[in-house]
Amino acid sequence: MLKSLFQSGGRGPGPKRWTSMVTKAWSPPGGPDVARSAVQRVESGAPLAGFRTSGAGIQPGVEPQDINELDKLRAAAAGCTRCPLYAPATQTVFGEGPADAWLVLVGEQPGDREDRAGEPFVGPAGRILDEALEAAGIAREKTYLTNAVKHFKFETRGKRRIHQKPNASEIRACRPWLDAELRILRPNVLATLGATAAQALLGPSFRVGKQRGQVMDWGDGLTLVPTVHPSSIVRIPDREDRDAAFRALVADLEVARAQAPRGRA
Ligand code: URA
Repeated sequence: MLKSLFQSGGRGPGPKRWTSMVTKAWSPPGGPDVARSAVQRVESGAPLAGFRTSGAGIQPGVEPQDINELDKLRAAAAGCTRCPLYAPATQTVFGEGPADAWLVLVGEQPGDREDRAGEPFVGPAGRILDEALEAAGIAREKTYLTNAVKHFKFETRGKRRIHQKPNASEIRACRPWLDAELRILRPNVLATLGATAAQALLGPSFRVGKQRGQVMDWGDGLTLVPTVHPSSIVRIPDREDRDAAFRALVADLEVARAQAPRGRA
């Protein structure tokens, strides 16, 4: 609707006047900044995904816990406004992988590349993860990759978008999507990557450094194996230390693989 308003043949008020009219008339959950950001995105030709638009997103009264199909869940998440992170992000980056995946890998949140591509783990951390999965004998195409938070949180510095850690209320707001993914997928094993994902599922006192690589019973027949985030390996400057950290990640993933039903990894 907004888009057609702005693209109505060049007649009517100019962009400044539109901005002022929209921010006065529209009060989205994130406040005037969100409205202003929508106007700027329309003007720059950026996609509007992430904003509630007619025909997409959550229908009034329908919550993630009411949805029983992955495609419908993904479509609903595309219009999520449960926390303010949706406003500056390009789009919701929902989980990806086969519906019969035996393993679900949960990261923190999409990064810059993922935000633009709309797919999880396609940037530098994704490359490390791919190598580690392969070294652990796990086929990525048989796994489902998702994140605890489904919008990229960042701070702009010049032209760069710098990753910001999601806070507790953003993680809490996004949790129903993850819960719904797990309820629909019913995997055998869950591997959390890094502290944010582990703490989202196991509570704030969980320490990855102490408990990584352990096999935990998460209930409902689901086994959880926590490990580090692959981006922690990208950041290690020393080659030997980085190789050792990579081998430790592979060892944790091998623990997860040992939990796979026969012939599924
Ligand atoms: N880091 C994450 O935690 N998830 C992604 O999808 C990419 C980078």
